[in-house]
Amino acid sequence: MAADHFHLAWFLQGSSIQAWGEPWTGNISEDWMTADMFLDLARGMERAAFDYILIEDSIYVGQNWQNSRDIFLKNGMSVPRQEPAVVATLMAAATKRLGIVPTLSTFAYHPYLTARIVGSLDQISGGRGGWNMVTGSSDFSAQNFGMEKLPDHDVRYLMAEEYVSIVKQLWGSWEPGAIVADRKTGILIDPEKVHTIDYQGAYYSSRGPLNSGPCPQGLPVIAQAGGSVSGKQFAAKHADTIVAAPRGIENMKKYRDDVRSQMRQFGRDPDTCKIFYLISPIVEETMEAAQWKAEQRAVNAAKNIDVRLAQFGWSTNLDLSGVDWDAPIPELKTNGHQSSLTQFIEKSGGKTLREAIIAHSSGGYCVDVVGTPDHVAGQMKEIMEEVGGDGFLFALGNVSRRSVSTIMDGLVPELQQRGLTRKAYGHEQFRDNLLEF
Ligand SMILES: Cc1cc2nc3c(=O)[nH]c(=O)nc-3n(C[C@H](O)[C@H](O)[C@H](O)COP(=O)(O)O)c2cc1C
Repeated sequence: MAADHFHLAWFLQGSSIQAWGEPWTGNISEDWMTADMFLDLARGMERAAFDYILIEDSIYVGQNWQNSRDIFLKNGMSVPRQEPAVVATLMAAATKRLGIVPTLSTFAYHPYLTARIVGSLDQISGGRGGWNMVTGSSDFSAQNFGMEKLPDHDVRYLMAEEYVSIVKQLWGSWEPGAIVADRKTGILIDPEKVHTIDYQGAYYSSRGPLNSGPCPQGLPVIAQAGGSVSGKQFAAKHADTIVAAPRGIENMKKYRDDVRSQMRQFGRDPDTCKIFYLISPIVEETMEAAQWKAEQRAVNAAKNIDVRLAQFGWSTNLDLSGVDWDAPIPELKTNGHQSSLTQFIEKSGGKTLREAIIAHSSGGYCVDVVGTPDHVAGQMKEIMEEVGGDGFLFALGNVSRRSVSTIMDGLVPELQQRGLTRKAYGHEQFRDNLLEF
């Protein structure tokens, strides 16, 4: 693809309450159950011709601080969080072209169920279904499903290999043209074209066929974020789109080169998988206002260090409450998101835990983009030119109709006017739009 034309998508961190305590978030304590705000967001994204919305998930209430749930509940950190497959269905009904990608983790849903949920989503959306494949990160979530802890990080990816095989085979268990709907013969489905898969693996088995029927896309879109060695390898093998958060242009480029070269080794054309880089832009009417907001982000990051550390521990499966904040970071290991922890430690370069978490919480993920729509559009163009493609994944920590409008109505029209992003969808189905350029 031409790096001067790129894709856009949205990372919705949580499908219910997210920005508790932030201004302009509406009447959150009353409105969150209705999902109305998130439907407005989905419509806004479609107006801006985004490729997709990816609905994040975790499937437990955090307890990674003093072995207590208090800090998570009091601050509404990743709780309450609704079932993404349900919210995805509403979003599909509220839109016509946007790709809808719920997160379904491999330890929590049997592969047959995932194939059926995402297959059904693909059907009811007319070919816009996707699945964010994650392997989980928390033993607390495992305990909600009767396990003592999650399998080891690399074993999870081995299990995921079998899992994805089953899901793909189930999606393929209906040949094209299986539904004949012949009124003369009275036959709806041709039995010759619907097959069992009879998969027997070391971790999972499934007979098939999928009873929900064929998917409009054939295979719905698979999204994945792999940061570790096995994570990246998995993404290179299976993903149609990768969401990634390497910090800095050099690392973004390295990540892209690495995944693309692995794709070639697996016999895949690297242009068939689009990499989206996570950013959290601050877009305001003037440079001064945007700079002020960025400074506020840093000021806020220095407050409530316990909340910041609990959130970081939540994503890395660590309880950091016993660690001295004002001493250099001790050796830390996780069975959760390994790349997040590695990146945090690498970046911290001798800082104390307090300093490191402040720096971590004040950044805008891959690169900091701050300014007027015109300025930010220019920054994004330069970043893409250097990295080589394929797009950006927006995430805002303070999701509200107002903050999202700074992107949809402020930034995106500027990107479109410069010819950097699409003004209208070229196709009806998700994968076709993803592969359009
Ligand atoms: C943009 C982005 C979105 C992610 N969304 C989720 C999610 O919703 N749920 C989840 O359990 N993990 C999520 N992850 C974590 C990844 O699935 C993966 O575990 C993480 O990138 C670490 O990879 P590694 O385990 O290979 O180190 C996300 C990661 C990124 C970069």
